[in-house]
Amino acid sequence: MSAPLVLGIETSCDETGAGLVRGHELLADAIASSVAEHARFGGVVPEVASRAHLEAMVPAVDRALAVAGVRLAQLDAIAVTAGPGLAGALQVGVCAAKAYALALGKPLYAVNHLAAHIAVDQLEHGPLPRPVVALLVSGGHSSLLLVDDVADKVLPLGATIDDAAGEAYDKVARLLGMPFPGGPPIDAAARSGDPAAIAFPRGKYRDATFDFSFSGLKTSVARWVEARQQAGLDVPVADVAASFQEAVADVLTGKALAACRAHGATHLIIGGGVAANSRLRTLAAQRCEAAGIRLRVPRPGLCTDNGAMVAALGAELAARGAPASPLDVPADSSLPVTSVLVA
Ligand code: KG4
Ligand code: ZN
Repeated sequence: MSAPLVLGIETSCDETGAGLVRGHELLADAIASSVAEHARFGGVVPEVASRAHLEAMVPAVDRALAVAGVRLAQLDAIAVTAGPGLAGALQVGVCAAKAYALALGKPLYAVNHLAAHIAVDQLEHGPLPRPVVALLVSGGHSSLLLVDDVADKVLPLGATIDDAAGEAYDKVARLLGMPFPGGPPIDAAARSGDPAAIAFPRGKYRDATFDFSFSGLKTSVARWVEARQQAGLDVPVADVAASFQEAVADVLTGKALAACRAHGATHLIIGGGVAANSRLRTLAAQRCEAAGIRLRVPRPGLCTDNGAMVAALGAELAARGAPASPLDVPADSSLPVTSVLVA
């Protein structure tokens, strides 16, 4: 029997994703993003995102099927992000997935968004070793996880106590007059700046937890910029961007490596939109090499939210014969990471 063919549906934030995976093989990954509709608000507007998902959902599934050259009737299961995420946005994907599952008479897997970010790496780099530490950093979440089994046992080690890492990028970009989302323009500006120009704070860096804090850093950048402006001086945007980025990358990689050491993990996975950051990738690679830890980072298109990651986790569950979720399974905006599959 061939590996299960699974459709994965993702609508937790501003990306409508429909992915098709067979076993560990990626067949299609259709994405529609509403990011442009949120740009003028400087952040994702939940109601705007939900409406965009409604319009993009079925066309995204149809596109994925066309690219993969498969028909709905050939699917073995439907997987969908049940949480965490924006309540109304999640609801669109969960309802769509239920409708497909009911109409086709196929099992439904309502899964955790964070576990899906980890499972997607299997499509690129093969089966996950056990245990691995995962650092998930995006506009909506910043978490350090201990993954003993991505389909069954994921434990939280720490998370942000205030802003997510991507949120800090977006807010700092805004005060530097850059567009939303702020990660890419800060990354670009930082290339010509001096990362040691300004000593911004590293929140919670030296404490004993695996938690993060980025709101003090964001405030510190705002105060620094204001002080320059009040003194009638130019703001050295590249230096501010590089120094801010250095602080974020330093804390994220420092804590991730400490988590690997504390839990005897030989591999670190980084995922989420901020995993596209060039400095984070370089510093993580350097520090992992020095510590003898293998680094696995999916390509940028699989790091940001997408349907393939949900399909990847669904395929893993289907291959193990996991029990399907009931058709009245709810979307849960604050689904805990320990709940990989909502039964
Ligand atoms: O995973 P994602 O696409 O969506 C969620 O938020 O769930 O992540 C988007 C976040 C945004 O905050 C964006 O500014 C950030 O990822 N981002 C980056 C980069 N590219 C995207 N942050 C830093 N450097 C980048 N190159
Ligand atoms: Zn995400």
